[in-house]
Formats: sequence, structure tokens, C-alpha cells
Amino acid sequence: MKVLVVGGGGREHALCWKIAQSERVEEVLCAPGNAGTATVARNIALAADNVEALVACAKREGVGLVVIGPEDPLVAGLADKLRAAGIPTFGPGAKGASLEASKVVSKDLMERHRIPTAASRIFDRSGQAKGYLEGCSTWPQVIKAEGLAAGKGVYVCHTLEEARQAVDAVMEERRHGDSGARILIEEFLLGEEASVFALIDGSTILILESVQDHKQVGDGDTGPNTGGMGVVSPLRSLSTRLHRQIEQRILIPTVHAMRQEGIEYRGVLFVGLMMTEGGPRVIEYNVRFGDPECQALMRRMKSDIVPILLACAQGELESIDPPEWDARPCVGVVAAAGGYPGSYRKGDAIKGLAKAGEVPEVVVFHAGTKAVGDQVVTAGGRVLCVTAMGPDLDTARASAYQAYDLIHWEDKFARRDIGLRSPGGTQTPASAGDRG
Ligand code: AMP
Ligand code: GLY
Repeated sequence: MKVLVVGGGGREHALCWKIAQSERVEEVLCAPGNAGTATVARNIALAADNVEALVACAKREGVGLVVIGPEDPLVAGLADKLRAAGIPTFGPGAKGASLEASKVVSKDLMERHRIPTAASRIFDRSGQAKGYLEGCSTWPQVIKAEGLAAGKGVYVCHTLEEARQAVDAVMEERRHGDSGARILIEEFLLGEEASVFALIDGSTILILESVQDHKQVGDGDTGPNTGGMGVVSPLRSLSTRLHRQIEQRILIPTVHAMRQEGIEYRGVLFVGLMMTEGGPRVIEYNVRFGDPECQALMRRMKSDIVPILLACAQGELESIDPPEWDARPCVGVVAAAGGYPGSYRKGDAIKGLAKAGEVPEVVVFHAGTKAVGDQVVTAGGRVLCVTAMGPDLDTARASAYQAYDLIHWEDKFARRDIGLRSPGGTQTPASAGDRG
């Protein structure tokens, strides 16, 4: 079978790498891919949101499964079009993707179906929003652009002045473009953050292993939010009670809600949660794998992923065995271009990739890279994700940084604290602002 992976980041390199290991797969195609996917797949020069051309390509190539990585093509209805053409597709249709594309849509669904989340108000005029904030007696308040904002559209505001500035930045200056035409002002939730990844085929839920991103650019969770600077899996395991609560109070009601709303969801649902004193509450839904969370999940999954993705795409998850996981931890360090998440340079030659790949238990996934002649050059803010497995977290961490240090380009940087243990000997707990 041929499998087409849509997207061109680290998540898609990891998916291609894993899918290419399947005995059922004769060829992996990746559109548009990057210099890393080209080593395990055939890159197709089509943008991930070029819906019509991708459908035509999948038909022409006789693809047996399409796996859609990023949110944009999902929001654009690529999965709907592929399914209409009879091609099994992993990823929700446009209606399901609106749970990520619009925080108003997802909040509305949660409120109507009594799925625990933060109370919120919606505003489409900045004056009204500021008037409401002036009357707020409890702080912080959380201000969110309604639409997609690459994980950067959320402002936790501790004072009225901060909140006013956030409203202006989002609604007047349109820092996130039209995504900020409407905002939500949300109750601040206190607790530890967690995220859950579950495969959903419309009715069956298959929860994947625990995994944690590091959202902020600086060590110790400082500085602005990014798409994700590093990953650890597994985490300290949640208690059985919390695990059950997440399933019973969040995941099952979400699947019921989607069915009642006529959303046929076939793909991965990534739920951001706050573990409050009153139990887990939803911060946000994403309708895709996290990046770099996916890289760690792919490293740790022992089973062939293709039958699992295919069963999910065909509504047959119930009929397959859940995946087996490598019990050993995985640490992934994102190597970024200087300036990221602000402006950064592209086109710098990357050296040392082969040497880094020789470090035992290391796989370097490419994100923003491009092949130019026989050189690999930087082509994005997050350039690579250096992953390592190990018998324990410290060993995995040491291998990941050993490989990272063998890679060079001008202005390369990474967080140095991915996988660091806190003094108590446990994984550093997720803190507010840790992911998005
Ligand atoms: P989001 O993009 O919605 O996941 O939000 C990004 C980050 O903002 C989250 O990971 C949280 O750290 C924080 N956040 C979002 N909503 C809330 C909330 N209601 N209360 C506290 N923190 C929040
Ligand atoms: N790493 C967070 C995300 O993909 O949204």
C-alpha cells in the first residue's frame, strides 16, 4: 500500500519514519515534506493546504491511506474531500476541525454538553471587552483570540492594564490577523496542566501514552510561547482515578457531543487540560498530533502504526489491539533558529547531522529544513527535533543533548532543561503556560 502524509514539519517526519517501517507499506509519499522526510519518503511538491491538488495526487498515485498532520488542511476540508473520493483518511473533516479553528465553536460545544471547562464570555468589539474587564474583581483573566494563532493567541493577564493591552493587540492591532476579530475572556484555572492524546474513530476511544511539551522558549519556562521546544514521554503517571475522570468526564462526553452534532471524527484528538481542585477541565481541543509530542510517541510506539491509523480512518478501532509501547523514556530537544519565535534567518547550512544520527538511540527529526544541492539548510524557526530513548530519563536526556551538541549552524539554540528532573526526583511538573 502507498501512504500519503500531508505536512512538512517534525511531526510529519516522525509519522513518515514510523509508517515507512510498516511491512504493509510499499511507499510513503509526503507533501510537501522536508529534507528529513525525503530520506524515508518521496516528497511531493504540493503545499499542505492545496486541497484540490492533493486529492488529485492521492487518486493518481492510488494511495491507500492519507494521514493529515497539520490543522490548516483539516480546517480547509481536505479530509472531507479525500473521503468523498473514497480514500481512507486519518484526520477529521472541516466540522471536526472547527473545534480547534474556533474557540467559540469549541466553548459552545462544551457548554451545551456540560463538558467541564473555564467559564467565558465572547466579545466582537474591543470597547465592550474593556468595559467588561473594568468590572472584573478577580484576576488574572485570560484573553484568547478566537481563531488559529500558532499557539500564541492566549494572554494570561494579571492586571486591568495588561488586559487592556492584550485586547488592543489582538482586536485593534490584529497581531494574529483575523483570528483576533473575536475574543474570549475566560476564567483563570488554577492547577497542573496535562494533555491527552486519543485516537477516535467516531465511537471508540484509544488513549495514547502520556507526553509533555515545553511551550516556552527559555529554560525554566520563561519567555514567550513557541510551537514547542522539547518533549518528554512518559510522564509521572496520572493516578488511576484522574485517568478515569479524564475518560469519563471529558473524552466520552466529547465523543457523544460530536456525534450529536453530526461530527464524524476520525483522527487524533489532543485535549489540553487543567487539573483543578474540582477535577480536570478542558483548556482547548486540537484536532491533530502535537509537534514535538508526536515525535516522542512515534519513537515509543512498538506496534506497526499503519493498521492502527487505517482502522481509525475506517471506523474500526474497536477491532484492533491497542498499540504496544516501549516502556523506556524518550526525550526530544528542539533545535531552533536564533530569534525564534520572533523573526529568524533561513538558509544556513546545517552541519553534523550524520554524526548526531550515530549517537546510540538517537533519531534526529527534521522540521524546518530544506535540501539545497547536497546540503541541508535551515528553512524554519524550529529546525530539528533531536530525540533519544534510554533506560532512564537521565540517560535519554544525555544522549539527546550529546547529539544536539554535534549539530551546527550559526545561531542554533535549544532549551537546556528538557527532561531535567526536579529535586524531588520526578519529572518537572507542567506549569501554566507550558503548552498550548
Ligand atoms: P491554549 O492555546 O488555549 O492551550 O492556551 C495556552 C496556554 O495558556 C495554556 O497552555 C495555559 O497554560 C494557559 N491558559 C489557557 N487558558 C487558561 C485558563 N483558562 N486558565 C489558566 N491558564 C490558561
Ligand atoms: N506542541 C504543541 C502543539 O502542537 O500544539
